[in-house]
Amino acid sequence: MAMLKGRRVVLGVTGSIAAYKSALLVRELVKAGAKVRVVMTPGAQEFITPLTLGTLSGHPVHSELTQDRNAGTWTDHVELGLWGDVILVAPATAHTLSGMVEGRGDNLLLTVLLSAKCPVVVAPAMDRDMFTHEATQANLQALEKRGVHVIEPGEGELASGLEGKGRLAEPERIREELTAWFTERSPLLGRHALITVGPTHEPLDAVRFIGNRSSGRQGVAIALELAQRGMTVDLIAGPIEIEVDHPGIRRVNVETALEMEAAAQSALLNRAPDVIIGTAAVADVRPTSPTSEKTAKTNLPSSISLTENPDILQGLNEAAPPSCYKVGFALAHDDGLEAALRKLEQKKCDLVVLNSLADKGAGFGHTTNQVRFVHGPNRIDSFDLKSKQEVAVDLAEVIQSQLSERPTLS
Ligand SMILES: Cc1cc2nc3c(=O)[nH]c(=O)nc-3n(C[C@H](O)[C@H](O)[C@H](O)COP(=O)(O)O)c2cc1C
Repeated sequence: MAMLKGRRVVLGVTGSIAAYKSALLVRELVKAGAKVRVVMTPGAQEFITPLTLGTLSGHPVHSELTQDRNAGTWTDHVELGLWGDVILVAPATAHTLSGMVEGRGDNLLLTVLLSAKCPVVVAPAMDRDMFTHEATQANLQALEKRGVHVIEPGEGELASGLEGKGRLAEPERIREELTAWFTERSPLLGRHALITVGPTHEPLDAVRFIGNRSSGRQGVAIALELAQRGMTVDLIAGPIEIEVDHPGIRRVNVETALEMEAAAQSALLNRAPDVIIGTAAVADVRPTSPTSEKTAKTNLPSSISLTENPDILQGLNEAAPPSCYKVGFALAHDDGLEAALRKLEQKKCDLVVLNSLADKGAGFGHTTNQVRFVHGPNRIDSFDLKSKQEVAVDLAEVIQSQLSERPTLS
């Protein structure tokens, strides 16, 4: 049940007589802590009103591609598709299943399904003969081949008066199957990560600071990827502009290196991490004597005295249990391999992810990255230029394989 807490479910409701059960399904999902947004086909509205599902889900129901013809507004199917952790089509009619197979986009739900990046689950509901028809069975097989999970309909008396298979699975069973399905897709469930992310800002006075251009995108992508795989994540974030919304991620916002160190050490004491990932671009130095007021332009000092900041990752790695897997990041302006190998040793990391400003599209500010995984002098894996999400997937694969050989620490 806890598996559904905070999960974002786009519930597609289609024109089956069983659409009335979607009201109970919304209740089941909401009670389990899921966030539910309902998309109805025009056909579904013949069976149940948007008002019912909107009230139960606590969100407006979407059903039309366009909203106000005069104002020229539309429903953002791409945004809806990207919002969900899963799209659950329940009940799924024979018509919608065939539209999914063909990749048709003639209603809002089908366009959401086409633009979604998240997995899809369908719970078919139809008359026995429609369900056993060769076309429907072929469509279900085609969808399963594409990775769509099918919640089998139940057997029994059908609305048509026929007996047989085709009844929408009961809402409680759909909720249970969805929970089991999420659990199955969470190979890192029960594991915990501590991730630092973003730059730090070291104040000179009330308004000025020393900082850097780290956007935090790579670290956030890693946190999300690990959370998707079931991990809980303590995300210690310097000043970044990215919103992070995942039930498995607990975010603490900090400004300075000293604050980041304190927050990360306290998170570590609170819960032993199975993996530590230092993606933060911590300022190496801080002004020795910042002032709490804004210094007037005429009073600006001609030089600034600086104090070295602590090495946060090294401190964490030293405090962590030996079987914790420790990952550092290194941004080099040249090849950087030697520096990465040094970092590996000095900071007591198991892996350093190296990216170089010499590679186009890599490093700060970009949505892409090109990295090398430096495990040691004799094991360096080089990757092509990829999106930061794809880099996160590559790293998560390494972490998953490493943790499979290590005991759970918390
Ligand atoms: C009373 C009634 C009940 C229906 N029940 C189902 C059903 O359970 N399953 C199904 O696949 N189609 C059912 N249909 C047919 C669909 O409503 C029809 O194929 C429609 O085009 C589906 O559109 P949609 O998939 O876009 O919602 C039913 C139609 C009527 C009139």
